[in-house]
Amino acid sequence: MVILDSNTKTRKESFWSKVGAVGIRTKIMGIVALCIICSAIAMVWYTQHDVSAALRTELQEGGLALGTGLAAQGRDLILTHNEFALYTLLREAQNADDDLIYIFVLDAEDNVLVHTFDGGFPRDLLDVNDVQPEEAYHIQALQAEDDTIQDIAIPVLGGKAGMIRLGMSESTIDATVAGHIRNMLLWFALILVLGLSVAYGLASILTVPITRLAQAARAVGKGDFRWKAPAWAKDEIGSLGTAFNEMSQDLERKEKMQARLLAKVINAQEEERKRISRELHDGTSQALTSLMVGLRYIEDSAAITSVKKELADMRALAAQTLDEVHRLATELRPSVLDDLGLVEAIEKYTREFSTKMNINVDTHVGGIRGLRLPSDIEVTVYRIAQEALTNVAKYARAENVSVILRYRDSSLVAIIEDDGIGFDVNGILTSQNRERLGLFGMYERASIIGGRLSIESQLGFGTTIYLDIPVKSLEEVKDGKNKVASGR
Ligand SMILES: Nc1ncnc2c1ncn2[C@@H]1O[C@H](COP(=O)(O)OP(=O)(O)OP(=O)(O)O)[C@@H](O)[C@H]1O
Ligand SMILES: [Mg+2]
Repeated sequence: MVILDSNTKTRKESFWSKVGAVGIRTKIMGIVALCIICSAIAMVWYTQHDVSAALRTELQEGGLALGTGLAAQGRDLILTHNEFALYTLLREAQNADDDLIYIFVLDAEDNVLVHTFDGGFPRDLLDVNDVQPEEAYHIQALQAEDDTIQDIAIPVLGGKAGMIRLGMSESTIDATVAGHIRNMLLWFALILVLGLSVAYGLASILTVPITRLAQAARAVGKGDFRWKAPAWAKDEIGSLGTAFNEMSQDLERKEKMQARLLAKVINAQEEERKRISRELHDGTSQALTSLMVGLRYIEDSAAITSVKKELADMRALAAQTLDEVHRLATELRPSVLDDLGLVEAIEKYTREFSTKMNINVDTHVGGIRGLRLPSDIEVTVYRIAQEALTNVAKYARAENVSVILRYRDSSLVAIIEDDGIGFDVNGILTSQNRERLGLFGMYERASIIGGRLSIESQLGFGTTIYLDIPVKSLEEVKDGKNKVASGR
């Protein structure tokens, strides 16, 4: 049973996978052809059954009317045994109706008085139809070799004088129905050709843009952004093409920005190395050389007073060198971020920023004081806040800045808000300026760790930067374990 079920399932799956592999054009044409063929089958069935039945009823009613008329006309002839006149009457009636293939008259004792059979009377016909006493007539269908015959028996004078039997052939009905069906099938064939042509045209209207869209998607996937989806119409496929083109443009812009960002990062790294090398050479090396010269002087010197002075100068130089090395290290990576965490690092940075730039900075921290986050999250938030504040200092002309850092409902939120001149965010983000990478870098950093960044700004009303990063729990860090479940 199980084997049968899985076999049936596999067969079903392979049927649907085959149907799925067929092109849309073939599917549409197949559906149209199927509809037309089903309609043709239904119409043929209807014609064969209902129309045949209606024509058969008509044939029976015609035969009955004819037989009743003959019974009335032939009654006296039967009673008087005028067989010749009776035969003439039957012959005339038969000649007048093509469907009437035989008539015969029986007397009250069921003897055949007259018949219209040319090759002798078939005696077995006598027993195949009879009228019951309560019936006015009886119709019986007889199956001949290549025809169906409606045999109608009508009693004459209630059967006291005998009975008239006539046979109505259905061959005309069959011929009429066959003719109808032939005509109908011809029409359906014509409709099928027409329907398939229309379906082909319509399917092409649908599939050509979809095929182009697929080509464009493949090309864009390989990094060739020259491909565009055709947007001939404004229908659903047209708007799909437009949306695809917009997406491709965004992708291209993003890719270019990423390349520039990478170049800038590499460049900045080189610049930083150059700066450190210069500082080490010009500052630290010079100072150390001076220290060595001083030490040699002490070695050679005999006077204690000049040694003391030299030692004091050397101590001052050593202290200055230490300061420089310390500054260099802090600029490279603020040790407070690694040692004391994000909150302390941000508070230190905003304090120094406020003093240096003469801008009032309010820092609010909630829900994470004294706690540590994963290091990539801490670095990301710190660098984004740093870039946001640098931009404030460079462009905002703000008097007040507020920095909010808050952990709530499994997410860390950072908000940096200034009351400066504001700017057109969309204009900047969509501009092709190769130099401005700060905002783009902020978005990139946020998305790398699964966060969301949004910038709101209004000319004259300042700028707000929201950063939202999912962080599942801080509890484990609280317990001193060096592991944080992050929401990413
Ligand atoms: N807080 C702000 N107030 C007013 N204008 C801003 C603010 N932040 C950014 N801008 C505007 O957005 C532009 C883009 O900033 P972005 O940080 O991307 O580039 P940048 O600072 O010019 O260069 P980079 O950061 O790459 O050194 C700025 O040139 C400035 O016009
Ligand atoms: Mg910037």
